[in-house]
Amino acid sequence: MSVNISIALAGIKLDTCVFNAAGPNDVTLEELEIIAKSKSSAITTKSCTLEPRVGNPEPRYADLELGSINSMGLPNLGYKEYIKFAHILKSKYSKPVVASISGLTFDDNLVIFKAFNDSEADILEFNPGSPNTIGKPTMGYDLEYLDQSLKEITKICKKPLGIKLPPYFDFVHFEEVAKIIRKYNVLYISSINSIGNALVIDSEKEEAVIKPKGGYGGLGGKYIKPTSLANVRKFYELVGDKVQLVGCGGIYTGMDVFEFILAGASAVQLGTVFIQEGPSCFARVQEELKSIMQRKGYTKLEDFKGKLKVL
Ligand code: DHB
Repeated sequence: MSVNISIALAGIKLDTCVFNAAGPNDVTLEELEIIAKSKSSAITTKSCTLEPRVGNPEPRYADLELGSINSMGLPNLGYKEYIKFAHILKSKYSKPVVASISGLTFDDNLVIFKAFNDSEADILEFNPGSPNTIGKPTMGYDLEYLDQSLKEITKICKKPLGIKLPPYFDFVHFEEVAKIIRKYNVLYISSINSIGNALVIDSEKEEAVIKPKGGYGGLGGKYIKPTSLANVRKFYELVGDKVQLVGCGGIYTGMDVFEFILAGASAVQLGTVFIQEGPSCFARVQEELKSIMQRKGYTKLEDFKGKLKVL
């Protein structure tokens, strides 16, 4: 029995539902070409800002027993480079490019979104969720800012638009965010960004494992999967009639992907596992998903998407 794990995300055809999350190993053209040559079904670029940034002081990333912590501080080459990279990647590889955009200010985002209209990126992913920019709050927790940003971005943006959201923990917050998202032409929500401002301590050294911000950083990997599943499920319940969901956070295996799709995801993004395992993770996870589907008698994702049973 052959199984089909292709999807259309934001109207763009992807060969499979598994691709890379914005953030890990996606800053330089060399890194992006590694993703292009892997089985990742799209090439997502590092969240970009108006100007290039070196990011926070090192060490700013640490592998943990069950995941990772990072406070990279948006190291990136500036949006103009990613517009050039989109052109190069599209001319060399037949794979959709997802450009992640995380301007430091309201006005920066408008400049960047406007410029990407004339790029070859297939999808633009607005990221108001970085918890690591020193001196800046997580924009996705300022709902008035989120509302105003989406209002202006959706006026400007001519490309399919998705949004990466930070994790929420209270149903009232989900409802408020869903109400905002519903007002605008946002085609997918990727949930979740890392769980912000976690602290991991090396007890032998009696110090934090990363340097920036006194040791606080975004938690990723297995620690966060129950939270990312809940965020996908809750947004699927609230806006799933209109907006696609992309699962992100703690996905290491085909079984993880299966669970996210049951919860309502149309696709998933791999972050920490891509750092820890390298680009072979995309093919492995896809093969695992296909064999689970075969075992269960499912031939396509729609057979079980969103069909989580509740007791
Ligand atoms: C960074 C971290 C994030 O979680 C994010 O969404 C964007 C940028 C960073 O520290 O580079």
